[in-house]
Amino acid sequence: MNFLQLNDNQLIKQANLIDGQWLTSNNSITVYNPATTQALGEIPLIDEQNVENTIHAALKSFNSYSKSTSYEKSLWLLKWYDLVLAHADDLAKILTQEQGKPLAEAKAEIQYAASFIQWFAEQIKSDHGLTLAEPVAGKSFATHKHPVGVAALITPWNFPAAMITRKAAAALAAGCTIIIKPSELTPFTAIALVELAQRAGFPDGAINLITGDAAMIGDKLCQDVRVKKLSFTGSTRVGQQLFQQSANNIKRLSLELGGNAPFIIFDDANLDQAISALIQSKFRNNGQTCVAANRIYVDIKLKQQLVPMLIERLKQLTCGNGLTEDVDLGPMINSSAVSKVATLVTDALAKGAQCVYQADIKHLGPHYYPATLLTEVNMQMAIANSEIFGPVLAIQWFSHEAEVISLANNTDAGLAAYFFSDNIHRCQRVANALDFGMVGINSGMVSHAISPFGGIKYSGIGREGGHTGLAEYQYIKAHCFGHLS
Ligand code: SIN
Repeated sequence: MNFLQLNDNQLIKQANLIDGQWLTSNNSITVYNPATTQALGEIPLIDEQNVENTIHAALKSFNSYSKSTSYEKSLWLLKWYDLVLAHADDLAKILTQEQGKPLAEAKAEIQYAASFIQWFAEQIKSDHGLTLAEPVAGKSFATHKHPVGVAALITPWNFPAAMITRKAAAALAAGCTIIIKPSELTPFTAIALVELAQRAGFPDGAINLITGDAAMIGDKLCQDVRVKKLSFTGSTRVGQQLFQQSANNIKRLSLELGGNAPFIIFDDANLDQAISALIQSKFRNNGQTCVAANRIYVDIKLKQQLVPMLIERLKQLTCGNGLTEDVDLGPMINSSAVSKVATLVTDALAKGAQCVYQADIKHLGPHYYPATLLTEVNMQMAIANSEIFGPVLAIQWFSHEAEVISLANNTDAGLAAYFFSDNIHRCQRVANALDFGMVGINSGMVSHAISPFGGIKYSGIGREGGHTGLAEYQYIKAHCFGHLS
Protein backbone atom coordinates (compact mmCIF):
# COMPACT_ATOMS: atom_id res chain seq x y z
CA MET A 1 0.00 0.00 0.00
CA ASN A 2 1.73 3.17 -1.06
CA PHE A 3 -1.05 5.67 -1.72
CA LEU A 4 0.14 7.87 1.11
CA GLN A 5 3.73 8.12 0.01
CA LEU A 6 5.04 11.61 -0.39
CA ASN A 7 6.55 12.78 -3.67
CA ASP A 8 4.34 10.42 -5.67
CA ASN A 9 2.11 12.79 -7.60
CA GLN A 10 -0.17 9.98 -8.74
CA LEU A 11 -0.88 8.93 -5.23
CA ILE A 12 -0.48 11.66 -2.67
CA LYS A 13 -3.21 14.25 -2.67
CA GLN A 14 -1.94 17.80 -2.59
CA ALA A 15 -5.42 19.24 -2.49
CA ASN A 16 -8.24 20.52 -0.32
CA LEU A 17 -11.35 18.49 0.44
CA ILE A 18 -14.49 20.56 -0.03
CA ASP A 19 -17.91 18.92 -0.12
CA GLY A 20 -16.41 15.53 -0.92
CA GLN A 21 -14.27 16.81 -3.83
CA TRP A 22 -10.48 17.11 -3.79
CA LEU A 23 -9.66 20.51 -5.28
CA THR A 24 -6.34 22.09 -6.18
CA SER A 25 -5.63 25.77 -6.68
CA ASN A 26 -3.58 27.94 -9.04
CA ASN A 27 -1.63 29.24 -6.08
CA SER A 28 0.21 26.97 -3.70
CA ILE A 29 2.48 26.77 -0.66
CA THR A 30 5.60 24.60 -0.62
CA VAL A 31 5.99 22.21 2.30
CA TYR A 32 9.54 21.35 3.44
CA ASN A 33 11.13 18.49 5.33
CA PRO A 34 12.72 20.13 8.41
CA ALA A 35 15.42 17.46 8.61
CA THR A 36 16.76 17.99 5.08
CA THR A 37 15.23 21.41 4.22
CA GLN A 38 14.14 19.84 0.91
CA ALA A 39 10.70 20.44 -0.58
CA LEU A 40 8.17 17.66 0.01
CA GLY A 41 5.28 18.95 -2.06
CA GLU A 42 2.74 21.71 -2.61
CA ILE A 43 -0.60 22.48 -0.98
CA PRO A 44 -3.30 24.86 -2.19
CA LEU A 45 -3.37 28.47 -1.11
CA ILE A 46 -7.15 28.65 -0.88
CA ASP A 47 -8.91 31.88 -1.87
CA GLU A 48 -11.73 33.61 0.02
CA GLN A 49 -14.41 32.31 -2.36
CA ASN A 50 -13.42 28.72 -1.67
CA VAL A 51 -13.44 29.28 2.09
CA GLU A 52 -16.98 30.59 1.57
CA ASN A 53 -17.87 27.49 -0.50
CA THR A 54 -16.47 25.25 2.24
CA ILE A 55 -18.60 26.86 4.94
CA HIS A 56 -21.65 26.53 2.68
CA ALA A 57 -20.89 22.82 2.08
CA ALA A 58 -20.35 22.10 5.78
CA LEU A 59 -23.65 23.75 6.67
CA LYS A 60 -25.55 21.91 3.94
CA SER A 61 -24.09 18.63 5.15
CA PHE A 62 -24.86 19.47 8.79
CA ASN A 63 -28.57 19.45 8.04
CA SER A 64 -28.46 15.72 7.28
CA TYR A 65 -25.33 14.55 9.14
CA SER A 66 -26.58 15.89 12.47
CA LYS A 67 -29.67 13.68 12.10
CA SER A 68 -27.71 10.45 11.71
CA THR A 69 -28.03 8.16 14.70
CA SER A 70 -25.39 7.82 17.39
CA TYR A 71 -24.76 4.23 16.20
CA GLU A 72 -24.20 5.40 12.61
CA LYS A 73 -21.73 8.04 13.74
CA SER A 74 -20.00 5.55 15.99
CA LEU A 75 -19.62 3.07 13.14
CA TRP A 76 -18.12 5.68 10.78
CA LEU A 77 -15.66 6.61 13.51
CA LEU A 78 -14.74 2.99 14.22
CA LYS A 79 -14.16 2.36 10.51
CA TRP A 80 -11.92 5.44 10.44
CA TYR A 81 -10.09 4.15 13.54
CA ASP A 82 -9.46 0.78 11.85
CA LEU A 83 -8.16 2.47 8.69
CA VAL A 84 -5.81 4.73 10.66
CA LEU A 85 -4.36 1.72 12.47
CA ALA A 86 -4.09 -0.24 9.22
CA HIS A 87 -2.07 2.61 7.70
CA ALA A 88 -0.16 3.58 10.84
CA ASP A 89 3.27 2.98 9.28
CA ASP A 90 2.53 5.11 6.18
CA LEU A 91 1.03 7.87 8.31
CA ALA A 92 4.01 7.86 10.67
CA LYS A 93 6.43 8.15 7.75
CA ILE A 94 4.57 11.17 6.38
CA LEU A 95 4.46 12.71 9.83
CA THR A 96 8.20 12.31 10.38
CA GLN A 97 9.03 13.74 6.98
CA GLU A 98 7.00 16.90 7.40
CA GLN A 99 7.32 17.41 11.16
CA GLY A 100 10.72 15.95 11.99
CA LYS A 101 9.99 13.81 15.07
CA PRO A 102 11.66 10.36 15.13
CA LEU A 103 9.71 7.57 13.47
CA ALA A 104 9.09 5.74 16.77
CA GLU A 105 7.56 8.91 18.20
CA ALA A 106 5.54 9.44 15.03
CA LYS A 107 4.17 5.89 15.35
CA ALA A 108 3.28 6.60 18.97
CA GLU A 109 1.49 9.77 17.87
CA ILE A 110 -0.56 7.83 15.32
CA GLN A 111 -1.66 5.40 18.06
CA TYR A 112 -2.45 8.38 20.31
CA ALA A 113 -4.41 10.00 17.45
CA ALA A 114 -6.35 6.79 16.81
CA SER A 115 -7.18 6.47 20.52
CA PHE A 116 -9.30 9.66 20.35
CA ILE A 117 -11.32 8.29 17.44
CA GLN A 118 -11.99 5.09 19.35
CA TRP A 119 -12.77 6.97 22.57
CA PHE A 120 -15.40 9.24 21.00
CA ALA A 121 -16.89 6.39 18.93
CA GLU A 122 -17.58 4.72 22.28
CA GLN A 123 -18.59 7.85 24.20
CA ILE A 124 -21.37 8.85 21.83
CA LYS A 125 -23.24 5.56 22.28
CA SER A 126 -23.68 6.13 26.00
CA ASP A 127 -23.97 9.93 26.00
CA HIS A 128 -27.21 11.04 27.63
CA GLY A 129 -29.25 13.92 28.98
CA LEU A 130 -30.99 14.00 32.34
CA THR A 131 -34.48 13.57 33.66
CA LEU A 132 -34.87 15.88 36.64
CA ALA A 133 -37.03 15.19 39.65
CA GLU A 134 -40.33 17.12 39.66
CA PRO A 135 -39.27 20.31 41.53
CA VAL A 136 -42.77 21.77 41.86
CA ALA A 137 -46.14 20.14 41.48
CA GLY A 138 -47.18 19.77 37.85
CA LYS A 139 -43.77 20.42 36.26
CA SER A 140 -40.89 18.23 35.24
CA PHE A 141 -37.65 18.87 33.38
CA ALA A 142 -35.40 16.95 31.02
CA THR A 143 -32.19 17.92 29.25
CA HIS A 144 -31.28 16.99 25.67
CA LYS A 145 -27.96 17.43 23.88
CA HIS A 146 -27.64 18.86 20.37
CA PRO A 147 -24.62 19.40 18.10
CA VAL A 148 -23.66 23.08 17.97
CA GLY A 149 -23.38 23.14 14.15
CA VAL A 150 -20.43 23.67 11.81
CA ALA A 151 -17.14 23.48 13.73
CA ALA A 152 -13.83 24.95 12.55
CA LEU A 153 -10.74 23.13 13.79
CA ILE A 154 -7.42 24.95 13.54
CA THR A 155 -4.53 22.67 14.40
CA PRO A 156 -0.79 23.06 15.03
CA TRP A 157 2.36 21.57 13.52
CA ASN A 158 3.74 19.89 16.65
CA PHE A 159 1.17 17.05 16.69
CA PRO A 160 -0.09 16.94 13.08
CA ALA A 161 -2.25 13.83 13.69
CA ALA A 162 -3.37 13.79 17.32
CA MET A 163 -4.50 17.41 17.52
CA ILE A 164 -6.77 16.77 14.53
CA THR A 165 -8.39 13.59 15.81
CA ARG A 166 -8.79 14.94 19.38
CA LYS A 167 -10.99 17.67 17.92
CA ALA A 168 -12.46 16.00 14.84
CA ALA A 169 -13.58 12.76 16.50
CA ALA A 170 -15.35 14.67 19.29
CA ALA A 171 -17.04 17.04 16.84
CA LEU A 172 -18.14 14.29 14.44
CA ALA A 173 -19.39 12.09 17.30
CA ALA A 174 -21.45 15.00 18.63
CA GLY A 175 -23.03 15.47 15.17
CA CYS A 176 -21.13 18.55 13.98
CA THR A 177 -19.72 18.87 10.49
CA ILE A 178 -16.16 20.14 10.39
CA ILE A 179 -13.71 22.33 8.54
CA ILE A 180 -10.11 21.41 9.35
CA LYS A 181 -7.34 23.96 8.82
CA PRO A 182 -4.06 22.17 9.54
CA SER A 183 -0.78 24.00 9.90
CA GLU A 184 0.69 24.79 6.48
CA LEU A 185 3.97 23.37 7.84
CA THR A 186 2.48 19.88 8.33
CA PRO A 187 -0.57 19.46 6.07
CA PHE A 188 0.12 16.04 4.55
CA THR A 189 -0.62 14.01 7.69
CA ALA A 190 -3.95 15.86 7.87
CA ILE A 191 -4.70 15.20 4.20
CA ALA A 192 -3.89 11.50 4.65
CA LEU A 193 -6.12 11.25 7.75
CA VAL A 194 -8.98 12.94 5.93
CA GLU A 195 -8.54 10.65 2.92
CA LEU A 196 -8.95 7.72 5.32
CA ALA A 197 -12.01 9.31 6.91
CA GLN A 198 -13.56 9.63 3.47
CA ARG A 199 -12.90 5.95 2.84
CA ALA A 200 -14.61 5.22 6.16
CA GLY A 201 -17.80 6.52 4.54
CA PHE A 202 -18.51 9.86 6.20
CA PRO A 203 -21.01 11.72 3.98
CA ASP A 204 -19.76 14.44 1.60
CA GLY A 205 -19.34 17.78 3.33
CA ALA A 206 -19.19 16.30 6.84
CA ILE A 207 -15.40 16.60 6.80
CA ASN A 208 -13.71 19.41 4.86
CA LEU A 209 -10.06 20.36 4.83
CA ILE A 210 -8.61 23.65 3.64
CA THR A 211 -5.05 25.01 3.52
CA GLY A 212 -3.56 28.41 2.89
CA ASP A 213 -3.05 31.78 4.49
CA ALA A 214 -3.70 31.18 8.20
CA ALA A 215 -4.63 34.80 8.96
CA MET A 216 -7.20 35.04 6.14
CA ILE A 217 -8.74 31.63 6.84
CA GLY A 218 -8.84 32.21 10.62
CA ASP A 219 -10.50 35.58 10.15
CA LYS A 220 -13.16 34.25 7.75
CA LEU A 221 -13.98 31.25 9.95
CA CYS A 222 -14.25 33.45 13.06
CA GLN A 223 -16.33 36.21 11.46
CA ASP A 224 -18.83 33.87 9.79
CA VAL A 225 -21.93 33.35 11.88
CA ARG A 226 -22.64 30.01 10.16
CA VAL A 227 -19.56 28.58 11.87
CA LYS A 228 -20.84 27.96 15.38
CA LYS A 229 -17.72 26.62 17.02
CA LEU A 230 -14.00 27.19 16.81
CA SER A 231 -11.45 24.88 18.36
CA PHE A 232 -7.86 26.07 18.18
CA THR A 233 -4.54 24.71 19.43
CA GLY A 234 -1.58 27.05 19.17
CA SER A 235 -0.01 30.11 20.68
CA THR A 236 -1.69 32.36 23.25
CA ARG A 237 -1.13 35.36 20.96
CA VAL A 238 -3.06 33.79 18.05
CA GLY A 239 -5.69 32.42 20.45
CA GLN A 240 -6.36 35.94 21.70
CA GLN A 241 -6.78 37.18 18.12
CA LEU A 242 -9.23 34.41 17.25
CA PHE A 243 -11.14 35.08 20.47
CA GLN A 244 -11.54 38.74 19.49
CA GLN A 245 -12.50 37.91 15.91
CA SER A 246 -15.17 35.52 17.20
CA ALA A 247 -16.72 37.98 19.62
CA ASN A 248 -19.22 39.54 17.19
CA ASN A 249 -21.12 36.31 16.72
CA ILE A 250 -20.60 34.88 20.24
CA LYS A 251 -19.00 31.75 18.83
CA ARG A 252 -18.35 28.76 21.08
CA LEU A 253 -14.61 28.47 21.62
CA SER A 254 -12.12 25.88 22.79
CA LEU A 255 -8.61 27.28 23.04
CA GLU A 256 -5.64 25.09 23.90
CA LEU A 257 -2.81 27.60 24.17
CA GLY A 258 0.73 27.89 25.42
CA GLY A 259 2.08 26.35 28.61
CA ASN A 260 5.04 27.02 30.89
CA ALA A 261 5.08 23.84 32.94
CA PRO A 262 6.94 23.69 36.24
CA PHE A 263 8.61 20.35 36.97
CA ILE A 264 9.46 20.05 40.67
CA ILE A 265 11.74 17.44 42.22
CA PHE A 266 11.48 17.33 46.02
CA ASP A 267 14.25 15.88 48.17
CA ASP A 268 12.05 12.90 49.06
CA ALA A 269 11.53 11.89 45.41
CA ASN A 270 12.73 8.71 43.78
CA LEU A 271 15.47 10.46 41.79
CA ASP A 272 15.90 7.81 39.09
CA GLN A 273 12.20 7.88 38.31
CA ALA A 274 12.06 11.66 38.42
CA ILE A 275 14.96 11.97 35.98
CA SER A 276 13.46 9.46 33.54
CA ALA A 277 10.17 11.35 33.64
CA LEU A 278 11.95 14.67 33.18
CA ILE A 279 13.78 13.40 30.10
CA GLN A 280 10.52 12.06 28.70
CA SER A 281 8.57 15.25 29.38
CA LYS A 282 11.30 17.62 28.18
CA PHE A 283 12.48 15.78 25.08
CA ARG A 284 9.21 14.45 23.66
CA ASN A 285 9.06 15.99 20.19
CA ASN A 286 12.40 17.67 20.91
CA GLY A 287 10.80 19.90 23.54
CA GLN A 288 8.16 21.20 21.12
CA THR A 289 5.06 20.42 23.18
CA CYS A 290 2.78 22.72 25.17
CA VAL A 291 3.03 20.38 28.15
CA ALA A 292 6.84 20.04 28.13
CA ALA A 293 8.70 20.49 31.42
CA ASN A 294 9.79 24.12 31.08
CA ARG A 295 10.83 25.51 34.48
CA ILE A 296 12.65 22.81 36.38
CA TYR A 297 12.82 23.30 40.13
CA VAL A 298 15.02 20.92 42.11
CA ASP A 299 15.62 20.88 45.87
CA ILE A 300 19.12 22.32 46.39
CA LYS A 301 20.02 19.27 48.53
CA LEU A 302 19.93 17.15 45.35
CA LYS A 303 22.29 19.37 43.34
CA GLN A 304 25.49 17.27 43.64
CA GLN A 305 23.66 14.06 42.84
CA LEU A 306 21.34 15.29 40.08
CA VAL A 307 23.68 17.12 37.70
CA PRO A 308 25.99 14.17 36.85
CA MET A 309 23.00 11.84 36.60
CA LEU A 310 21.31 14.16 34.13
CA ILE A 311 24.47 14.64 32.06
CA GLU A 312 24.82 10.87 31.81
CA ARG A 313 21.26 10.58 30.49
CA LEU A 314 21.70 13.44 28.01
CA LYS A 315 24.82 11.81 26.56
CA GLN A 316 22.67 8.84 25.57
CA LEU A 317 20.35 10.92 23.35
CA THR A 318 21.07 10.66 19.63
CA CYS A 319 20.07 13.55 17.41
CA GLY A 320 19.45 13.25 13.66
CA ASN A 321 16.97 12.74 10.83
CA GLY A 322 13.92 11.07 12.37
CA LEU A 323 13.77 8.49 9.58
CA THR A 324 17.15 7.08 10.71
CA GLU A 325 17.12 4.13 13.11
CA ASP A 326 17.75 4.87 16.79
CA VAL A 327 17.37 8.65 16.61
CA ASP A 328 15.89 10.13 19.81
CA LEU A 329 15.78 13.81 18.85
CA GLY A 330 14.88 15.13 15.41
CA PRO A 331 15.24 18.64 14.00
CA MET A 332 13.32 21.68 15.19
CA ILE A 333 10.42 22.65 12.93
CA ASN A 334 12.27 25.53 11.20
CA SER A 335 15.10 28.02 11.55
CA SER A 336 13.07 30.61 13.48
CA ALA A 337 12.35 27.94 16.13
CA VAL A 338 16.11 27.33 16.36
CA SER A 339 16.96 31.01 16.70
CA LYS A 340 14.27 31.55 19.35
CA VAL A 341 15.82 28.85 21.54
CA ALA A 342 19.37 30.09 20.85
CA THR A 343 18.36 33.62 21.91
CA LEU A 344 16.88 32.36 25.19
CA VAL A 345 20.05 30.41 25.98
CA THR A 346 22.31 33.37 25.13
CA ASP A 347 20.25 35.64 27.39
CA ALA A 348 20.39 33.12 30.26
CA LEU A 349 24.18 32.71 29.96
CA ALA A 350 24.67 36.48 29.89
CA LYS A 351 22.69 36.71 33.16
CA GLY A 352 24.66 34.06 35.04
CA ALA A 353 23.27 30.66 34.02
CA GLN A 354 25.85 27.89 33.63
CA CYS A 355 25.87 25.57 30.64
CA VAL A 356 26.96 22.25 32.14
CA TYR A 357 26.24 20.16 29.05
CA GLN A 358 25.60 20.74 25.36
CA ALA A 359 25.50 17.94 22.78
CA ASP A 360 27.79 18.10 19.77
CA ILE A 361 25.61 18.22 16.60
CA LYS A 362 27.90 20.23 14.33
CA HIS A 363 27.14 18.67 10.97
CA LEU A 364 23.44 17.96 11.13
CA GLY A 365 22.02 21.05 9.43
CA PRO A 366 20.37 24.41 10.08
CA HIS A 367 17.24 23.13 11.83
CA TYR A 368 18.95 21.30 14.66
CA TYR A 369 19.57 22.55 18.17
CA PRO A 370 21.70 20.56 20.64
CA ALA A 371 20.30 19.08 23.85
CA THR A 372 21.47 21.55 26.50
CA LEU A 373 21.57 21.58 30.31
CA LEU A 374 21.60 24.95 32.08
CA THR A 375 21.84 25.38 35.84
CA GLU A 376 21.72 28.45 38.09
CA VAL A 377 18.72 29.76 36.13
CA ASN A 378 16.61 32.46 37.80
CA MET A 379 13.46 34.47 37.18
CA GLN A 380 15.39 37.44 35.74
CA MET A 381 16.17 35.34 32.67
CA ALA A 382 13.75 35.21 29.72
CA ILE A 383 14.14 31.42 29.65
CA ALA A 384 12.41 31.16 33.03
CA ASN A 385 9.44 33.20 31.85
CA SER A 386 8.85 31.91 28.32
CA GLU A 387 7.79 28.66 26.73
CA ILE A 388 11.19 27.35 25.53
CA PHE A 389 9.75 24.92 22.94
CA GLY A 390 13.14 23.28 22.43
CA PRO A 391 15.60 20.75 23.92
CA VAL A 392 16.93 22.86 26.79
CA LEU A 393 16.74 21.85 30.44
CA ALA A 394 16.77 25.02 32.56
CA ILE A 395 17.24 24.24 36.26
CA GLN A 396 16.50 26.44 39.27
CA TRP A 397 17.23 25.37 42.86
CA PHE A 398 14.83 25.81 45.78
CA SER A 399 14.90 25.16 49.53
CA HIS A 400 11.29 25.05 50.78
CA GLU A 401 7.98 23.64 49.60
CA ALA A 402 6.08 26.92 50.05
CA GLU A 403 8.75 28.79 48.11
CA VAL A 404 8.62 26.43 45.13
CA ILE A 405 4.83 26.42 44.97
CA SER A 406 4.83 30.17 44.85
CA LEU A 407 7.51 30.15 42.11
CA ALA A 408 5.66 27.47 40.13
CA ASN A 409 2.36 29.39 40.24
CA ASN A 410 4.00 32.69 39.36
CA THR A 411 3.11 32.55 35.66
CA ASP A 412 0.30 33.58 33.32
CA ALA A 413 0.21 30.05 31.96
CA GLY A 414 -1.78 27.23 33.55
CA LEU A 415 -1.62 24.14 31.37
CA ALA A 416 0.44 21.35 32.94
CA ALA A 417 2.61 20.98 36.05
CA TYR A 418 4.61 18.03 37.38
CA PHE A 419 6.19 17.10 40.67
CA PHE A 420 7.97 14.17 42.25
CA SER A 421 7.76 13.16 45.90
CA ASP A 422 7.40 9.90 47.81
CA ASN A 423 5.40 11.54 50.60
CA ILE A 424 1.64 10.98 50.13
CA HIS A 425 0.70 13.98 52.29
CA ARG A 426 2.97 16.25 50.29
CA CYS A 427 1.55 14.77 47.05
CA GLN A 428 -1.99 15.72 48.02
CA ARG A 429 -1.00 19.13 49.35
CA VAL A 430 1.10 20.14 46.34
CA ALA A 431 -1.34 18.75 43.74
CA ASN A 432 -4.07 20.93 45.28
CA ALA A 433 -1.85 23.99 45.51
CA LEU A 434 -0.65 24.04 41.89
CA ASP A 435 -2.80 26.31 39.68
CA PHE A 436 -2.79 24.28 36.48
CA GLY A 437 -5.33 22.36 34.39
CA MET A 438 -3.32 19.13 34.59
CA VAL A 439 -0.92 17.93 37.28
CA GLY A 440 1.44 14.97 36.92
CA ILE A 441 2.16 13.46 40.35
CA ASN A 442 5.19 11.21 40.01
CA SER A 443 4.43 11.16 36.29
CA GLY A 444 5.99 13.10 33.42
CA MET A 445 3.05 12.48 31.04
CA VAL A 446 -0.48 13.75 31.61
CA SER A 447 -1.96 13.07 28.18
CA HIS A 448 -4.43 10.26 27.53
CA ALA A 449 -7.68 10.01 25.58
CA ILE A 450 -9.66 9.33 28.75
CA SER A 451 -8.45 12.43 30.61
CA PRO A 452 -9.61 16.03 30.03
CA PHE A 453 -6.77 17.98 28.40
CA GLY A 454 -6.65 21.76 28.81
CA GLY A 455 -5.53 24.70 30.85
CA ILE A 456 -6.52 27.71 32.91
CA LYS A 457 -5.42 31.36 32.81
CA TYR A 458 -3.69 32.26 29.50
CA SER A 459 -3.39 28.58 28.59
CA GLY A 460 -6.93 28.58 27.29
CA ILE A 461 -10.52 27.53 27.78
CA GLY A 462 -12.28 24.22 27.39
CA ARG A 463 -11.14 20.62 27.66
CA GLU A 464 -10.37 18.09 24.95
CA GLY A 465 -10.73 14.31 25.21
CA GLY A 466 -12.01 12.75 28.40
CA HIS A 467 -15.60 12.53 29.53
CA THR A 468 -16.23 16.24 28.84
CA GLY A 469 -14.76 16.29 25.32
CA LEU A 470 -18.12 15.78 23.57
CA ALA A 471 -19.75 18.63 25.49
CA GLU A 472 -17.43 21.11 23.76
CA TYR A 473 -19.42 20.44 20.56
CA GLN A 474 -22.91 20.27 22.07
CA TYR A 475 -25.44 22.62 23.55
CA ILE A 476 -27.96 21.57 26.15
CA LYS A 477 -31.63 22.21 25.63
CA ALA A 478 -33.90 21.97 28.67
CA HIS A 479 -37.44 20.70 28.15
CA CYS A 480 -39.86 21.91 30.79
CA PHE A 481 -43.07 19.86 30.85
CA GLY A 482 -46.19 21.24 32.38
CA HIS A 483 -48.45 18.35 33.37
CA LEU A 484 -52.02 18.79 32.22
CA SER A 485 -54.48 17.58 34.79
C1 SIN B 1 0.49 19.77 22.72
O1 SIN B 1 1.63 19.94 23.06
O2 SIN B 1 -0.12 20.67 22.13
C2 SIN B 1 -0.27 18.50 22.98
C3 SIN B 1 0.48 17.49 23.75
C4 SIN B 1 -0.33 16.28 24.13
O3 SIN B 1 -1.47 16.09 23.72
O4 SIN B 1 0.21 15.47 24.88
